[in-house]
Amino acid sequence: MKALVLSGGSGTRLRPFSYSMPKQLIPVANKPVLVHVLENIRDLGVTEVGVIVGDRGPQIEAVLGDGSALGLRITYVPQEEPLGLAHCVALARPFLGEDDFIMYLGDNMLPEGVVEIAGQFTADRPAAQLVVHKVADPRAFGVAEVAPDGRVERLVEKPQDPRSDLALIGVYLFTAAIHRAVDAIEPSPRGELEITDAIQWLVEQGADVRASLYQGYWKDTGRVDDVLECNRRLLDGLRRDVRGEVDADSTLVGPVVVEPGARIVGSRIEGPAVIGAGTLVEHSHIGPHTSVGRNCVISGTQLDYSITLDGAVVSRVKGLYGSVIGRGATVEPSSHGTDQHRLVVGDHTRVEVAA
Ligand code: TTP
Repeated sequence: MKALVLSGGSGTRLRPFSYSMPKQLIPVANKPVLVHVLENIRDLGVTEVGVIVGDRGPQIEAVLGDGSALGLRITYVPQEEPLGLAHCVALARPFLGEDDFIMYLGDNMLPEGVVEIAGQFTADRPAAQLVVHKVADPRAFGVAEVAPDGRVERLVEKPQDPRSDLALIGVYLFTAAIHRAVDAIEPSPRGELEITDAIQWLVEQGADVRASLYQGYWKDTGRVDDVLECNRRLLDGLRRDVRGEVDADSTLVGPVVVEPGARIVGSRIEGPAVIGAGTLVEHSHIGPHTSVGRNCVISGTQLDYSITLDGAVVSRVKGLYGSVIGRGATVEPSSHGTDQHRLVVGDHTRVEVAA
């Protein structure tokens, strides 16, 4: 079996980060979501991975290289425009050949993995096997109507009046039968080749299409709030590992990771929390549920339920909560006076200040 990981797309919901980085590289527990995805695929014993990349592909290649560090062999498949999930399958056809494959959206997190579901697929080899998850409000999802024996009877995209609460969550297993389906469909009204249309075509042709319930934690990290929530969830499984320097005036409470080369000076770190390599934390209170990236400087600051990306600088700011600070960004008090705010804020950025 091969894998096809979708890491193109426009990522409009994750602006402003997606202006300068592919959203699949946003870190969760200090590791890009895409790396979590690839580790999940490696757990299936799959080594041949095609990665669909858009115009920010070079950043993805810089992080993943040829995949050997992860025990994988990666083939990059460029997609000029995000023309849909089924378009990705069509583009990857030369890589996929006639092989079975798992298709995985590069921004979806299923930390409990899909080993069992993939095992069922390999044993039974239906034309398609869809990973579904029970959701409270299915109206925002592709929804599978499933018979008691697990056969998919119908797929409906964003139903007004859902007849099932089983949402498609970004992991699909296919035999080569999917290629005929992709060839048969037309672009949808939004101009994309939809994978749900291709699967529905298979259903209508009488092909064996099944759904398997994933009962673990699932998150589509498409929006900032989802990234924070997913970060919280992953940090909850953290184990203490202190390899950096912690001075005698600092206190670490609970599961705290201090990566090599990080320095903690006169600070309190409340786990679960990760402090990235090469970062300086001084006279600050960090955590819980906070990830600080590499080579950051956090000074005189109170940071809770937040993420800072690599190279961020946060000085003398109290009460930061639910924040995501981008690469090399600086947050500090105004030098123009105590009751003034000076903001240099990029496009589609959200800033909430105390009233
Ligand atoms: P989405 O999150 O549905 O789409 P998007 O990236 O355009 O995001 P937004 O809605 O915020 O604008 O895509 C799911 C995954 O599939 C994501 O990892 C991007 C990837 N993708 C491609 O690689 N090519 C495509 O043509 C599309 C539509 C998505």
